[in-house]
Amino acid sequence: MKPTIEEIESHLRQTGPREMKDLWNRADAVRKENVGDAVHLRGLLEISNTCVRACAYCGLSRENTRLQRYRMTAEEIFDCLSRIVSFGYGTVVMQAGEDYGIEADWLAGIIRQIRQTTPLAVTLSMGERPFEELKRWRQAGADRYLLRFETSDPDLYRRIHPARQGQTADRRKILNQLRDLGYEVGSGVMIGLPGQTFRSLARDIELFGRMDLDMVGVGPYIPNPDTPLGSGRLRPKIDPAEQVPNTEQMAYQVIALTRLVCPEANIPSTTALATINRDSGRERGLSRGANVVMPNVTPLRYRQLYEIYPGKACLNETAEVCRGCLAERIAALGRHIGTGPGSRIRRAATP
Ligand code: 5AD
Ligand code: FES
Repeated sequence: MKPTIEEIESHLRQTGPREMKDLWNRADAVRKENVGDAVHLRGLLEISNTCVRACAYCGLSRENTRLQRYRMTAEEIFDCLSRIVSFGYGTVVMQAGEDYGIEADWLAGIIRQIRQTTPLAVTLSMGERPFEELKRWRQAGADRYLLRFETSDPDLYRRIHPARQGQTADRRKILNQLRDLGYEVGSGVMIGLPGQTFRSLARDIELFGRMDLDMVGVGPYIPNPDTPLGSGRLRPKIDPAEQVPNTEQMAYQVIALTRLVCPEANIPSTTALATINRDSGRERGLSRGANVVMPNVTPLRYRQLYEIYPGKACLNETAEVCRGCLAERIAALGRHIGTGPGSRIRRAATP
């Protein structure tokens, strides 16, 4: 039985070491039973930091005039792809701001070429693009799409996520479209956003289960001083007792509960988690429900500019260094690196 919103909320409010240990053990057992001991590595390629949106939490917001913008060329992308292939990663995740300078046909051509010339699965994370473009990319061979809904609380969402002029932002609708197009669908939220209550986070997690997401990415909110939310200029009003903390422990609680509601999902131990605990954040995420890591393969000169929040883990590590580092860390956990595309595998329903 999947936990109810009330049960999830009561787990989120717990802090005691015994309760935590029980939750980690449950999540780890469900992870092992459903997705096994493989840790899938996805090569993350941040192909553009240009963005038309103005999300109040994100350093790539178009309002952040301090950031120098880049967009990778096809040639640069293919250089990185051959690295991903040589490392044995099964998937490339191409991520960008919502950048209409990335033309739909241009990207479709790249996707087609990747599918024809490499064994890689293709995941896209390009923001709230129009249906026609999502369709073209799917037809070109893209397998998966990531679009976090960030929070299911409509008021909080509106306050931190201004709509584009003349358009209402409805990420839930886009997620349904992606599903209809045949993508594997990923979503997720930030943990400890100012204004996020325990109740609303519990609703988010319950929703992951109801949406039957194939992939769920969650990570702690990390304030970026170059944004309205991170600088304190925007301060959602909330009872302090109800505010979810953006702590490491809370992040593990959310990962673990996510595993309980989405037993078969691919769940990454995220960069945000590694950022707030560089020593062992990734490993702990993997021991408490996660089964995926997304090592960054973006060229270092661009990676510095993909500054969603400050102090990102592995900012100066080459793709080769991360590859070796992760291999050791995964082996030390008694797990192994997954091979092949690492898609969601549906288990036959038990009668
Ligand atoms: N802290 C943590 N995560 C963030 N994201 C954006 N800004 C921040 C921040 N300040 C996350 C969002 C987005 C993903 C690409 O990065 O959830 O969907
Ligand atoms: Fe990048 Fe360890 S994963 S250095």
